[in-house]
Amino acid sequence: MKTQNKSLIVVSLLIVLGIGAFIFSNSNDRSVTTDQQASIKPEDESTENPTASAPQTITLAMVEERDKKDDCWTIIEGNVYDITSYVPRHPGGDEILLACGRDGTSLFVSRTDNNGQKVGSGTPHSSGAKNQLQSLYIGKLE
Ligand code: HEM
Repeated sequence: MKTQNKSLIVVSLLIVLGIGAFIFSNSNDRSVTTDQQASIKPEDESTENPTASAPQTITLAMVEERDKKDDCWTIIEGNVYDITSYVPRHPGGDEILLACGRDGTSLFVSRTDNNGQKVGSGTPHSSGAKNQLQSLYIGKLE
């Protein structure tokens, strides 16, 4: 009788373990499916939302079109920045507009124009200004 009891316990344990293993492997399968759905989702969103896919490389012609106060792009060291939103809050006033639609590297880096003439102090912008510039980056010049 005792031996019968023991084997009954062993068999029950095996059945419970078997069911456990089955449930575990199934739940793993389901989590893989969820992962796959999650990895597809961002791609779908980026194709649906045009603002999420800013151009990687920008041509000079594209920059030259944005030469106005209310639509102002500039090139600084081969990078393109949309500085439109910054124009009204620029501490140096409207001098920033000199860079709209063209290469503004010397204007920003040394506050001098293409002829080497000083614009304002004629000194480099501060590191704070450089940090703000980073947030306006939209792509590389082609
Ligand atoms: C590219 C054309 C630009 C020109 C010609 C220009 C010119 C000036 C001038 C004349 C001043 C007054 C202070 C001084 O004369 O030293 C000034 C100050 C300043 N500008 Fe610009 N700026 C330009 C672009 C920018 C951009 C793109 C930013 C930031 C995103 C910026 C941020 C600042 C800041 C923060 C100051 C205060 C002083 C400093 O931190 O250097 N500027 N700028």
